[in-house]
Amino acid sequence: MPNDKGNSSEFERLVDRMSTLVNQALKRFAWPRTNAPRRLIEAMEYSLYAGGKRLRPLLALCAAEAVGGRPDDALPAAAALEMIHTYSLIHDDLPAMDDDDLRRGRATCHKAYDEATAILAGDALNTYAFELVLEHVPDPRHAVAVGLELARAAGIDGMVGGQMADVEAEGAAPDLQRLVYIHEHKTGALIAGAVTCGAILGGASPPQLDCLRRYGRGIGLAFQVVDDILDMTATAEQLGKSPGKDAAANKMTYPRVMGIEKARAHAQELIRKALDELAVLPAPHGLRVVAEYFVSRAH
Ligand code: IPE
Ligand code: IPE
Ligand code: MG
Ligand code: MG
Ligand code: MG
Repeated sequence: MPNDKGNSSEFERLVDRMSTLVNQALKRFAWPRTNAPRRLIEAMEYSLYAGGKRLRPLLALCAAEAVGGRPDDALPAAAALEMIHTYSLIHDDLPAMDDDDLRRGRATCHKAYDEATAILAGDALNTYAFELVLEHVPDPRHAVAVGLELARAAGIDGMVGGQMADVEAEGAAPDLQRLVYIHEHKTGALIAGAVTCGAILGGASPPQLDCLRRYGRGIGLAFQVVDDILDMTATAEQLGKSPGKDAAANKMTYPRVMGIEKARAHAQELIRKALDELAVLPAPHGLRVVAEYFVSRAH
């Protein structure tokens, strides 16, 4: 289990308050009935229950609460987000992509099983996320809105587009504009989507949703800036994944483009601006604590 908790006790209290709900969401919505081949389900569960930080579900629950709803309102989105995120990690680790052996403190999916199983486990997690939203979000208008947010966040103008740009940029000359595109898409989009999906299910008004989109984009970009820093500064034990991979693959990263100190300051500034967006919301405490945690990890 990764030992990557930052140092904020407020964050730990928030996780304590929300983690039972997140676990319940996964238990309740993760394929209760299936006749799929056992190996496929085992591989999906191997990665899903490996001990990720569950930040995207946490954000969805906090966003529902922030707009005056109940965290429970966001449970289907919370489960769907963690499935899509886990799929993105399984594929990110494949030999054709980042070629990683360690994830969430254990062997990567393709190492524990095999490449074909890992590809299919990722595919299945992705599609199941949409199945559960369409089946379990009670209000059909919300189901459509959340399905659309998730598809956009994960798809060509979201995570997948960003991952393609990330692969293409390996070895390329440092270019800040290109880097912003990569990070906002490969990572920022799904984090922002977690916030908007939770807010929709919590009953957000259009102006609240606009503020939360800006908050989500800011913290999403900051999260990947910090991930790049940690790749250079943290240990495998702290991260639950191998450090030093970005330099080895000649990735375009924030520390590479502007140096570690400037990258830290930039993440801090993105978080500061994101926090300003929360001022109009009735119950922003959880979202504030998560944003502060995101940047505390870099120190
Ligand atoms: C890792 O995300 C991949 C990135 C988008 C940087 P997390 O750091 O949230 O990974 P888990 O879910 O805790 O394993
Ligand atoms: C990946 O970024 C973001 C995803 C869409 C999975 P990284 O390649 O930096 O993530 P890690 O460091 O392997 O978790
Ligand atoms: Mg990658
Ligand atoms: Mg990677
Ligand atoms: Mg990384």
